[in-house]
Amino acid sequence: MPADFSLLHRICKLVVLLCFFHIAVTVFFYVRSFDIPLAFPHKRQSHNNTTQSGLDTHTVSTSRTEWNTQNEEGTAAPQSEPGQKSVTEPRKSLEKCPETSPLLVGPLRVEFNNPVSLEQIKDENPNVQLGGRFKPKDCEALQKVAIIIPFRKRDEHLKFWLYYLHPILQRQQLEYGVYVINQDGDETFNRAKLLNVGYQESLKDKDYNCFVFSDVDLIPMDDRNTYKCFSQPRHLSVSMDKFGFRLPYNQYFGGVSSMSKGQYLKINGFPNNYWGWGGEDDDIYNRLASKGMTISRPSGDIGKCRMIRHNRDKQNDPNPQRFDRIAHTKETMNKDGINSLSYKLMSVEKLDLFTKITVDVGKP
Ligand code: BGC
Repeated sequence: MPADFSLLHRICKLVVLLCFFHIAVTVFFYVRSFDIPLAFPHKRQSHNNTTQSGLDTHTVSTSRTEWNTQNEEGTAAPQSEPGQKSVTEPRKSLEKCPETSPLLVGPLRVEFNNPVSLEQIKDENPNVQLGGRFKPKDCEALQKVAIIIPFRKRDEHLKFWLYYLHPILQRQQLEYGVYVINQDGDETFNRAKLLNVGYQESLKDKDYNCFVFSDVDLIPMDDRNTYKCFSQPRHLSVSMDKFGFRLPYNQYFGGVSSMSKGQYLKINGFPNNYWGWGGEDDDIYNRLASKGMTISRPSGDIGKCRMIRHNRDKQNDPNPQRFDRIAHTKETMNKDGINSLSYKLMSVEKLDLFTKITVDVGKP
């Protein structure tokens, strides 16, 4: 049966050939699996690209380190750690922070007996960035808040403010920046104009959508009093120790307040011509009321705050014109405000815990 033998022979040959082919393919892919840059430089690059685009859509596994490498506006800055590959990773898209921060602790002990130092505050707040900026690492803050503090020669008060407020604001999971607006010279103080300057200057830094206006000597006694904006302008310092933990009158809008950009612009900002103590906060209230807005407030308990006791500042005597001005807010507010603001910018200093902006606001 010679024919049968030759068929068997051919089949055997085919099987052997197939085996060789199989071994050759296996060896080829085995060798290719070695990461040899010189041998496959272009392949290696395309491998990295694939990994990056994969991360674009799969955001779960990014580390904290990556967030730390974000620059101010969120673009990733190249940075490598010892023993790590130096690759520019894409930004992780974080989930929004919850409406109520889970980090809040409620009532706080606030006292001013022991002085605090800037070094101590800096050490205790390692996540606060240059200029007094912060954003949560693990979630995307719901609001970008500029905190504006009108200021002149109150360094001791400012230290207490920074000491108490930085930890509170971080627990409130806000993205924020602290702007101290320092009135240059010794002319009469003008709180509302400094607040207008703070609004305008902070926007050069970041697209803030909420503005908290705070006196330097007021410290909240409960971190549930969130320094953010609401659907109506917010009055935050509702029960001050100075007033026996009560509102002095219903229209009172002094101390600490917050407004969204829209609310602020609706009233043309604040008056620029209240020189000396008093009245400007009442004018702001009149502006809000005349535009049909109401005041939102936390409860008296949550809105408790302490004022650092002090003597009246020089060049900040009660303004005798205030009663007359308050009576005419409606007629003056459209021409006096953010649309008529003028000042001379003297310096902008990005310090560890705040941005200090010194301005010449002129004189009465
Ligand atoms: C003044 C306000 C001040 C309030 C509470 C009012 O008479 O006009 O500016 O905030 O008293 O002290």
